Amino acid sequence: MSVTNRLKAVTGGITQVEADAVVNAANRSLLGGGGVDGAIHRAAGPELLEECRRLGGCETGDAKITKAYRLPARQVIHTVGPVWHGGDKGEADLLASCYRRALELARDHGCKSVAFPAISTGVYGYPKEEAARIAVRTAAAFLEGNALPEKVVFMGFDEETTMAYERELEALQ
Ligand code: AR6
Repeated sequence: MSVTNRLKAVTGGITQVEADAVVNAANRSLLGGGGVDGAIHRAAGPELLEECRRLGGCETGDAKITKAYRLPARQVIHTVGPVWHGGDKGEADLLASCYRRALELARDHGCKSVAFPAISTGVYGYPKEEAARIAVRTAAAFLEGNALPEKVVFMGFDEETTMAYERELEALQ
């Protein structure tokens, strides 16, 4: 299957997705927060926080994997996106690294399907169009060289974000 057929954009909440892994937009403590992180911890239940406490945090641009408990997904991949400081503080490289590290963990744990929220584009302030470009291009490059995950879904929490992904997906072809 071509790489473009392995990527798609969908509008909706990440906690409802039945993928082998869903990605959490976490912070370096991995101990919960607002936005996606809050929604994932609420839906997964307190066992997720317990497992996260044992991980000892996570660096910006890196990722760690846990079970998903009461979520319909099988695993949660927690990644820490960069805070947007205007674009000249290495934000783009760090954001690309989040996608790559999350996809490496998904591959290494045999995940066939992975769903990503728009990492860093909420509280962390990353411009949505630029974040969508990095998400799509980094995932496409990864899938080019890897059979797993078979499919990657970009979850737009609003139509505007989903449309930004769709424009980037079209630009790949
Ligand atoms: N499903 C999918 N997308 C969502 C959901 C959801 N349930 N809820 C929000 N979004 P954010 P960040 C979108 O702030 O910018 C937390 O406190 C939202 O519209 O969740 O990486 C962490 O603990 C936005 O486009 O993540 C960190 O401290 C995108 O998801 C910090 O926020 C990401 O928004 C991380 O900030």
